Amino acid sequence: MKNLDPCTVVIFGAAGNLARRKLIPALFQLERLGRFPESLSILALSLEDRTRDAWQEEVRQILSEQPYDILEKFLARWHYQRIEPTEAGSYLSLKETLLDTSRFSANQVFYMAVRPADYPGIVEQLGGQGLLQEKNGWRRVVIEKPFGYDLLSAETLQAGLYRHLQEHQIYRIDHYLGKGTVQNVLVFRFANVLLEPLWNHNYIDFVQITQSETLGIEGRADYYEGAGALRDMIQSHLLQVLTLVAMEPPVSLDAEHLRDEKVKVLQSIRPIPQNAVHAHAFRGQYSAGSIGGESVAGYQEEAGVAKDSTTETYAAMKLFIDNWRWSGVPFYLRTGKRLAENSSAVYIRFKSPPQDLLRSARLGPTQPNWIMLGIQPDECLRVELQVRMPGLELQTRTLSLDATYRQGDETDFSAYEELLLDVIQGDHSLFLRIDEVEAAWKVVDPVLKVWATEREFIQTYPAGTWGPRGTYRLFSHEDQFWRHGLDPSGADLHPY
Ligand code: BG6
Repeated sequence: MKNLDPCTVVIFGAAGNLARRKLIPALFQLERLGRFPESLSILALSLEDRTRDAWQEEVRQILSEQPYDILEKFLARWHYQRIEPTEAGSYLSLKETLLDTSRFSANQVFYMAVRPADYPGIVEQLGGQGLLQEKNGWRRVVIEKPFGYDLLSAETLQAGLYRHLQEHQIYRIDHYLGKGTVQNVLVFRFANVLLEPLWNHNYIDFVQITQSETLGIEGRADYYEGAGALRDMIQSHLLQVLTLVAMEPPVSLDAEHLRDEKVKVLQSIRPIPQNAVHAHAFRGQYSAGSIGGESVAGYQEEAGVAKDSTTETYAAMKLFIDNWRWSGVPFYLRTGKRLAENSSAVYIRFKSPPQDLLRSARLGPTQPNWIMLGIQPDECLRVELQVRMPGLELQTRTLSLDATYRQGDETDFSAYEELLLDVIQGDHSLFLRIDEVEAAWKVVDPVLKVWATEREFIQTYPAGTWGPRGTYRLFSHEDQFWRHGLDPSGADLHPY
């Protein structure tokens, strides 16, 4: 366990959704685990006028039911200041506040828990006040996804950041990389020698990465209408998971070595020509339906959504990675809101044995092996094998070996604890380098362009189902399909 430098965590948008739901609880967990140095302080910045006491009371409410003594210690770290993000005067007083070294260390993290459109302006103002210069301590800026809304805007955003920051000061968060099971992909692949000979196009039939949610857009229409599922989930989280599944072993787990290999995967993804977009990508939007027995509204009925919106709430893609390892293996990515279940997993289907000796011993079609990495809610690793059924006849059935990595009372954390700790420790391994972000935009840009011109019609799916029917046209072979879930029944062919 490394000792952390004294530091100040400055949170822009401290009263917003991300800070309340993720950052404040994660910071508290780190306090509870005793990971903070005595001298760590946290400065909350937000639009409203509040006293320090009032803010500490709000943090107390967010963390109600936590042990009293740890909570008091945690609350004492917090300070509050009102900020008007576009006013230079606000940054001048921020500068004065941060100059008080009796309260604030000169090592500073600036966390942008604000709308993406606000990042450039805030960085410009911080830079203008000299607050990003690493003269007497380090300065780091944490930026949440989405990083731009296409390749061009990502490049423009980056150019703005580089006016005041160097690459080593920028931490582009993709919170999926902080999830335990996502990191387990690396451990599973590189700590177990038996998989490596199989991990390629000779044995793997296809790879599927699904993130499905029963939630809708949760009042985030202002963001979601301009984003859609492809930008919101595939360009970032799902492509990141894909890089970990597909990458070559890195020289070491150092940030640059790891990111070098990830970016090579993204750069090897076969570009989708505009005339092939419909064969490689599919979108849909939820209509009214029912989730867990409750009726829910369709996307176009959500507050803030245009009545004729064609923003996709479901997106699926077929990608090929043109390198030696993955030649010809389709990678199917799928995400959606208001789907039948909450489940995120990587499903890897192996090819069938070259000779079907056991045809007469089973009832249905061949059952190939699967390796599945459950990301959430089940954090697990499963391997499906065929075994003999007890009895007088030679019959086979599917057995699932479960190598769940978390045992009994072992707790795991939301992705943010580890990511926050990494920022304070200056470890970039789980953050995106700019070339990764750009390469990921290059993968989805052709699809975004075509979809942007086809704004008259979008397929719909009733909330609570597995998505639009037409999505099956993405599959390369008739026997390929979306797997719904980790249980053996998930491998049954579903109509959609
Ligand atoms: C966010 C997206 O990045 O990830 C949300 O903006 C999505 O739309 C969320 O719901 C999913 O994250 P998790 O950790 O709940 O799978």
